[in-house]
Amino acid sequence: MKILDKLKNIIAKNKIIGAEIIQKNVVDSTNELAKTLAKNGAADGTVIITEEQTGGKGRLDRKFFSPRDKGLWFSIILRPKCLPNDAPKFTLMAAAAIACAMKRFNLRAEIKWPNDIMYSGRKLVGILTEMSAEVSRVNFIVVGIGINVNIERAEFPENIRDVAASLSEMNGGNLNRAEVFNAVLEEFDRLYNQKSFSEVFKIWREYNITLGKNINVIEADSGEIFTGKAIDIANDGALIADIGGELKTFYAGDVSIRTK
Ligand code: BTN
Repeated sequence: MKILDKLKNIIAKNKIIGAEIIQKNVVDSTNELAKTLAKNGAADGTVIITEEQTGGKGRLDRKFFSPRDKGLWFSIILRPKCLPNDAPKFTLMAAAAIACAMKRFNLRAEIKWPNDIMYSGRKLVGILTEMSAEVSRVNFIVVGIGINVNIERAEFPENIRDVAASLSEMNGGNLNRAEVFNAVLEEFDRLYNQKSFSEVFKIWREYNITLGKNINVIEADSGEIFTGKAIDIANDGALIADIGGELKTFYAGDVSIRTK
């Protein structure tokens, strides 16, 4: 059963996000399809969702496991009037929207900077934000969201079994994917239509599990590993950490939280 077949009666009348939804059975990657559609003029808020991805992409050129009928694999095209530096804030917006959507199902999100939602130290949700921009103008942003909804532990490939989790595990039973999808789109639409990012930051802070923790950061550009303490999140979504007594700002990278 296609996700949207179940959604017909409950899909929100969102202002922008999901006003247009394109559903596929199988694609390589919804982010790739979204970028092509955006280049051809697809409207702000267009959502592309698929039952299965054969080449799901994660950050830093990783693969993203996206099996048929088990999760929500979708991308949202955004056309905000903003500078390229503001793009990371839409990743935070996605994480905040998902946290609010999970709350509706009595599930508490744990957001790890910048864009992973975790359960028991394992990843439930991944977000991959891509952009087409000029120096002073964003053409479009694609926010790709992968939510493991009803995947049993044994169904994950062995190499990610210890680092991946599913909402069903957290919930103690399967969830209706259409309802989860609908909740995420409604929450995203609500945040996207606000004039400022202040609520996004408030929600992000409320659910984050990074700030105040001892962390290792692998900086995306250099690949260098830094050890320190996560202090704050900057107005542009960057992570500020105390590294050996000096504050350092990270714009992209992989964080692991140290227990000591
Ligand atoms: C990550 O955790 O590294 C980011 C994963 C992002 C996965 C989603 S699934 C929908 C969209 N299409 C993709 O190819 N990737 C994103």
